[in-house]
Amino acid sequence: MTTGSLLVADLVIAVLATAAWLGGGAASAARRRPLALGLAAVALLATLARAITITALARAGWWFAAEKILIAGPLSLAAVGVAGPRLLWAPGDIRAVALPLLFAGYATSSALLVTILHGYPASAGAGLLAVAGVVAATVISGRALGARPSRTVSRVALVVAVAALLTGTGLTVAPGAAPAIPHGHGPPAARIADEPTRRFTLTAGTATVDAGGRIVAAWAFNEQVPGPELTATVGDVLEVTLRNRDIERGLTLHWHGYDVPNDQDGVPGVTQAAVRPGQEFVYRFRADQVGTYWYHTHSASDVGVRMGLYGVLVVRPGPVTGLDVTVPVHTLAGRPFPAPRVEQAEAGVPVRLRLINTDSTTHRYVLAGTAFRVAAVDGVDLRGPTPLVDTAVLIPAGGRYDLVFDAPATPVALFVDGRAVYSTGPVSTVTGAWPVLDPLGYGATAPVPWSRFDRTFTLVLDRGLDLRRLLPRYAHTVNGAADPDIPPQVVRLGDVVRFTIVNRSQVVHPWHLHGHHVLVLARDGEPAAGSPLWLDSFDVRPGEVWEVAFRADNPGVWANHCHNLAHADAGMTLHLMYS
Ligand code: C2O
Ligand code: CU
Repeated sequence: MTTGSLLVADLVIAVLATAAWLGGGAASAARRRPLALGLAAVALLATLARAITITALARAGWWFAAEKILIAGPLSLAAVGVAGPRLLWAPGDIRAVALPLLFAGYATSSALLVTILHGYPASAGAGLLAVAGVVAATVISGRALGARPSRTVSRVALVVAVAALLTGTGLTVAPGAAPAIPHGHGPPAARIADEPTRRFTLTAGTATVDAGGRIVAAWAFNEQVPGPELTATVGDVLEVTLRNRDIERGLTLHWHGYDVPNDQDGVPGVTQAAVRPGQEFVYRFRADQVGTYWYHTHSASDVGVRMGLYGVLVVRPGPVTGLDVTVPVHTLAGRPFPAPRVEQAEAGVPVRLRLINTDSTTHRYVLAGTAFRVAAVDGVDLRGPTPLVDTAVLIPAGGRYDLVFDAPATPVALFVDGRAVYSTGPVSTVTGAWPVLDPLGYGATAPVPWSRFDRTFTLVLDRGLDLRRLLPRYAHTVNGAADPDIPPQVVRLGDVVRFTIVNRSQVVHPWHLHGHHVLVLARDGEPAAGSPLWLDSFDVRPGEVWEVAFRADNPGVWANHCHNLAHADAGMTLHLMYS
């Protein structure tokens, strides 16, 4: 069983136990004896079964089980200890066990709430609040059932409630206040003289585009979605003038995967101010990384990118040889976009398909009709990629894969989630059952270039209640906090930095660090065994633990966030900062 499915199983059992305890309590209050005893038996079994799931989770990593062991464990023991013995005596008047059963229900439900609303790390405040909730609910139920609460019980309740109020406030305080992120403009970009310069102007505005036969409202660069394809040869200087015609939310250009100097990174409020309607901003940097990248607005990025403010950036080592095709996949107004592209390819011509996932969720790509190699991932060439046949690749949000092959005499077709997006003729192949390539075991290995790490960080991804805002929200959290309260990762220039990313939630988080490519060291404790993988975007699936590392060689303040942009907006953004 994977850790992801264990997390689900444990949650389901916890919900079942809670519902059965509460149902049993209600049934006995209503003197429905067989129903009450039946539900209580289910509850008892479910509560005991959690000992198994929680132990298994703890073995996968403390992050997955911390609050379950520290808070749910004792509360469940209390539930079984209080309700169990009374059930064994099964009194003549079944109503006598109503309160113990309800108590058990409150204990398991408040432990459940701790997991759902607070998660990792477990805190004393959360534990005390949970206990206070149980005590309060039990006292109220006791009154309703006509039981006289004893003096001691009332006193204990009071003490717990006061302690919970005092320490529970710790819940709303970020673990270690976050140093302020500097705002406004960075230093002016260094003049780069005497180099061939590629100049582009991107004017952003509201527009209408044809999405598969339906005219939809979009936000576009130069009236087109995707925006113009920006190309350069390595060594060129790119100079891109961004103008905002009428995008009220403001915009910027972020060069996804391109490790530009910090002041060119396009993160509003961190490296520059958002460009407002009528304003412009000039980006200038040297194209010194070869490969497939993309650009997109980083201001209101979730809606901005979804509406169409993105485009392709390709830097080639020299003149194009053979067929070199970019395939940026997007979903516009709920429809796959753009329309499938069909072209001729003469047999024997070398083809490079540059696949770019510009959506917020993973896509499954299959290339049918030919063997191929994955030449590069996230712009970086792989070492010794071997030919693949009838194999799918999963590309995370923001990620890029370059597939290469020599055009066969027969047609080839590229499908994304079962839909053809590129072809050289009709291909009918059933590809749904093809195995998926694991990039961590593909290509030829090379030793990790570092043997020690100067800094290590752990990011535990989850969901939780964020009380720091005026309106409480159910945020996507990192280490129990949501943007802007997640403490930054502080490094020094030259440090070798390792960080571990743990996903305790039920959804995929495509992780994306700006300004650096990270080398994958291990996943779920298994060292990466293929070509070195230098990524800027990687999917951390539910229950997974990734270990990655990079050298801190690009000073500045860099966003480090989930590239499901809705998650990033809902709290899952932090920063890497050079001291
Ligand atoms: Cu492609 Cu911070 O984003
Ligand atoms: Cu996410």
